[in-house]
Amino acid sequence: MDDRYIIPLPDFKYDHQALFDVQDNNENYVANPHFKKSRNLDTSKDNLFSDFFNPSSPVIEEIKNKFNFKTDCKFTRVLAGGVLPSHIDPKRTAVVMFPITDGPSPIVYYDENKNKLFEYTYTGVTLINAKIEHGVPVNKSDRIFFQVNSYLPWEQLVTMYKENTLYEQ
Ligand SMILES: [Fe+2]
Repeated sequence: MDDRYIIPLPDFKYDHQALFDVQDNNENYVANPHFKKSRNLDTSKDNLFSDFFNPSSPVIEEIKNKFNFKTDCKFTRVLAGGVLPSHIDPKRTAVVMFPITDGPSPIVYYDENKNKLFEYTYTGVTLINAKIEHGVPVNKSDRIFFQVNSYLPWEQLVTMYKENTLYEQ
């Protein structure tokens, strides 16, 4: 596994159904403000991609509290036929991705000329590097993730992972 891009966390335990229920049919999904500001995209309409920022519930507090870094979180939803345009995240450095829907389309990493560098199909909870260009170009089915954000340098997160200090086991 190439730990420049992603680190699977298959042993992280969480209540999948409870997470699904927090966001299901929730009215707080909105167009992504960063893409609005930087590219004038209304992502909900133009890309079928929406975010639900700072959700709050016991299952979410439990997950957030396990991580040994300061964090916030959101849900991201791309409906079937939509696109998560390629980008580098402006603030967060890395994200712990929790697949909510089955069979999520792969994340694709690109170099500065938009050549594909790496592609990954999630099989479970995964830490991803948000500071290398990435996107989800094709979504055949609805794709929902819960995302726990980190603002630590990627190298530091890799070290924490290797030392088993990324989260409370
Ligand atoms: Fe991203």
